[in-house]
Amino acid sequence: MAVVTAAAAWRLLLLYLFAFDGDTAKKVLVPVAPGTEPVEAAAIADVLTRAGARVTVATVGAGLVVDAAYGVKLVADRRVGDLDGESFDLIALPGGKLGSTNLRDCKPLEKMVRKHAENGGLYGGIGAAPAVALAHWGMLKGLKATCHPSLMDKFTAEVIPVNSRVVVDANVVTSQGTGTAIEFALALVERLYGKEKMEEVAGPLYTRPRPGTDYTVKEFNSMEWKCNGTPQVLVPVANGSEEMEALNLIDVLRRAGANVTVASVENTTQIVTRHYKLNLIADMMLDEATKMEFDFIVMPGGKPGAEKFSDTKALVDLLKKHAESDTKLYGAICASPAYVLEPHGLLKGKKATAFPPMQYLLTDRSACKYRVVVDGNLITSQAPGSATEFALAIVDKLFGREKAISIAKELVFM
Ligand SMILES: *[C@@H]1O[C@H](CO)[C@@H](O)[C@H](O)[C@H]1NC(C)=O
Ligand SMILES: *[C@@H]1O[C@H](CO)[C@@H](O)[C@H](O)[C@H]1NC(C)=O
Ligand SMILES: *[C@@H]1O[C@H](CO)[C@@H](O)[C@H](O)[C@H]1NC(C)=O
Repeated sequence: MAVVTAAAAWRLLLLYLFAFDGDTAKKVLVPVAPGTEPVEAAAIADVLTRAGARVTVATVGAGLVVDAAYGVKLVADRRVGDLDGESFDLIALPGGKLGSTNLRDCKPLEKMVRKHAENGGLYGGIGAAPAVALAHWGMLKGLKATCHPSLMDKFTAEVIPVNSRVVVDANVVTSQGTGTAIEFALALVERLYGKEKMEEVAGPLYTRPRPGTDYTVKEFNSMEWKCNGTPQVLVPVANGSEEMEALNLIDVLRRAGANVTVASVENTTQIVTRHYKLNLIADMMLDEATKMEFDFIVMPGGKPGAEKFSDTKALVDLLKKHAESDTKLYGAICASPAYVLEPHGLLKGKKATAFPPMQYLLTDRSACKYRVVVDGNLITSQAPGSATEFALAIVDKLFGREKAISIAKELVFM
């Protein structure tokens, strides 16, 4: 009897300490698996973290390293199998056909989502996940829902399919694809925190004014971007690189068929991204990459990452070589035009854009109002909310408009 009482008292004390600690952050679970769409996973984790949620990325696998889609390697925080008894305010499933299938087949995850739903918890899925996992588990019964347009016919009869970019019905939010990932994440923020918080988070993302429409590019000194065979692309990454910007470049350019090499400028191949501390594993170290020839170097933003790029002499030397060449290409988004290109004189005589609050750092601000700007061999863009447009504009220059449009449709960007 005394033991039970002591245990109960102990529990009360713990509860009290937690409450006192003010630990009221909403808990969000993003399950991932081999083949998960990395931009979708990163967008959910990044945007919910910006809203103040405590995000856990948990893998269905035995090890923590996850082979996501398009050759992206990331390190999860936890294993789904170890989450027994933990509860979350939101469980959001990223897509990817293989990834969703792997999530679907994870029994502990299915059990967890089911219990969460029975308790009235908020849940959702994007891309392939609504049709392949949620509907398969019978968890969209009688609800309006959407998924990737190519999988709409895979919905079971008990689902009411809606061809819309984001669908909210009761406690379930569903969405269509990589190109709707930010809209999906913002809808989740709105459901968890309200409209005001959603708008506060959306502002600095500089999301598209009219989602679903074509991308637009402002081009100066138009030249053809020619590569000898497969375009060889270098994407440098650092601790503090913006996750959505890095992953949009890697994912979308690989979809198009470019040979993308992700190189770390840190002292390990594993880097930690800016908002959600996502561990991303680069293909190699920059030192190794500098021995190879690239057609194009393109940098994600995130201020701490951009500052690291700027301090990395080997990268700056490589960028200078590209800037001075008539045929080699270079590009940057968000903080990187302002913190890497401008201070090293790599925007001299060029029109460019950058993250709006950092545009004052550019000498020539005449093209800053555009979301994506091309000037000869240089391409620049503004923010996480323009990262997909930026990647599509690069595909357009390297592979042609037809390829870019076909990928834009596959992403449900338009
Ligand atoms: C792609 O890049 C890697 C270096 O990351 C290189 O070893 C390989 O030969 C390239 N492949 C093609 C097809 O260009
Ligand atoms: C990398 O650098 C950091 C910061 O300087 C240091 O703490 C860490 O031990 C280094 N790691 C390796 C593997 O050298
Ligand atoms: C960058 O992050 C990695 C963890 O992936 C860490 O080992 C390293 O020390 C960090 N580097 C710096 C300079 O903080």
